[in-house]
Amino acid sequence: MSGSIQVHAELVQVEPRARQRIVCLRLFAPQVARAARPGQFVMLAPGPDGQLDPFLNRPFSIHRVPDADTLELLVAVVGRGTEGLAALPPGVRLRLLGPIGRGFDPPARGPLLLLGGGLGVAPLFFLAESLAGRPVRLLYGAATAEALVSTAGLPCRVELATDDGSAGRRGLATELLAEALSALPVAERALAYLAACGPEPMLARAAALCREAGVRAELSLEAHMACGTGACMGCARPIGGRPQRVCSEGPVFDAREVYP
Ligand SMILES: Cc1cc2nc3c(=O)[nH]c(=O)nc-3n(C[C@H](O)[C@H](O)[C@H](O)COP(=O)(O)OP(=O)(O)OC[C@H]3O[C@@H](n4cnc5c(N)ncnc54)[C@H](O)[C@@H]3O)c2cc1C
Ligand code: FES
Repeated sequence: MSGSIQVHAELVQVEPRARQRIVCLRLFAPQVARAARPGQFVMLAPGPDGQLDPFLNRPFSIHRVPDADTLELLVAVVGRGTEGLAALPPGVRLRLLGPIGRGFDPPARGPLLLLGGGLGVAPLFFLAESLAGRPVRLLYGAATAEALVSTAGLPCRVELATDDGSAGRRGLATELLAEALSALPVAERALAYLAACGPEPMLARAAALCREAGVRAELSLEAHMACGTGACMGCARPIGGRPQRVCSEGPVFDAREVYP
């Protein structure tokens, strides 16, 4: 795949990032870190070569690029591969392909809204950090306070929502979005932009709200992936009236194409 590099990245650190089972993997991968753009992802082997499904790599968004040599991935432990990753000791080398796909394309000026649902917040940290100094609001929702990842230090305004009200607003992050959009002066709406990542119902609602408000939106989609390189068509879904591969033509798409 053009622009992607296959490397053996050294696992530097595995750190818990929420009271639920979410860990942050820090990887030394200078070539990939230097080429990465917000919204892109990597395919990571779930264990050192020869162990744990060596051929079936897992896709993860690039969560942060804390320095020019390092990548961070935010990983929810949900199955065999992520269990294996969360248990690895620092120092192991893992096969990693990246950066992959089309990332976010925010406008050069205008108000910027980021919407993250659950682990969908992962790529929005990298995006927020790349937009430091601009007027950015991150609207972040999760089931409970325990499932939230700390946003301390992010260079933007953060508003939280949880299903049970244990942190921030009781309700959905899309309710925060509806309020943010209606508070935008009409003259600013054509310049405004939303980047969203999270569960499909959240993305569908965000797309509808932005369409009504006349605000451009980009959505980062997920799909089950095999190759991650555009070769197998396993991740294709109908977008914009034709099959598009989430790995190579996405994962970020214009909301009007995804929900016409
Ligand atoms: C572009 C992209 C970016 C992603 N970014 C992140 C991220 O930043 N952090 C993160 O924790 N996860 C992310 N995921 C999902 C992650 O790839 C899966 O959770 C992981 O592959 C599960 O591996 P496993 O072996 O632990 O689970 P498995 O044992 O394979 O499956 C456990 C559960 O996870 C579900 N699952 C498996 N693969 C996927 C998938 N590709 N998409 C959705 N659900 C899946 C299965 O249906 C099952 O319910 C991303 C997926 C894609 C496509
Ligand atoms: S995962 Fe093979 S084409 Fe996308």
